[in-house]
Amino acid sequence: MRLDRFLQLNSPYSRQQIKRLLATGQVSVAGCFVTEGTVEVDRFIRIELEGRLLQEAQGYYYMLYKPAGVVSATEHPEHKTVLELLPENLRDGLHLAGRLDLKTTGLMLLTNDGNWSRRVTQPESTIPKTYHVTTKDHVAVEAEDVFSRGIYFSYEGITTRPATLERIDSCHSRLTIHEGRYHQVKRMFGYFDNEVTELHRESIGDLILDPELKMGDFRPLTAAEIALF
Ligand code: URA
Repeated sequence: MRLDRFLQLNSPYSRQQIKRLLATGQVSVAGCFVTEGTVEVDRFIRIELEGRLLQEAQGYYYMLYKPAGVVSATEHPEHKTVLELLPENLRDGLHLAGRLDLKTTGLMLLTNDGNWSRRVTQPESTIPKTYHVTTKDHVAVEAEDVFSRGIYFSYEGITTRPATLERIDSCHSRLTIHEGRYHQVKRMFGYFDNEVTELHRESIGDLILDPELKMGDFRPLTAAEIALF
């Protein structure tokens, strides 16, 4: 994006005021004063206007092992939030790349990079998400076939994308879905009147919850992990 456009979107100033601020050396990019609004700036270059930071130089990406009872939100009046599992000095500007229900455990992603999180979460994204599922009753024999053909969700008026069910034992299975509809896994098992009693997200695409992480812990993603999406 052009610097002058970026400044228009990220400051209260008019185009004329921005021209003047540029001309009088009030704008710096990566620590250097820039007077030309036509300069192209990218997502993670440090931009300051009148000495105020408008954009950070760096993207931050974390995986976190969500415990049950922690809400997938950045603020909540009642429950502890996923963001509050990180120390305060790391929280600034972070948002969640996807959500899990209150009782669901497992892999969650946090970042300050909106483009990256959109690639992970956008409804059209077919990135597989794999869950370990515990159900109240035995998993129906035909579930594998029904899930692979898709289930009609009347509320959204859509049929779920083909999903893969792997039986572990009668009440435990592994389900891989390729979208993220509201309560999707519970609703899929609900088709068979089977209640999901425990749900745990193991992976998103090729990104697997680090087995070294304990519940409630987090760690930065590696460069190779960030590049997966
Ligand atoms: N599907 C659900 O039903 N719940 C989750 O938390 C994630 C997927």
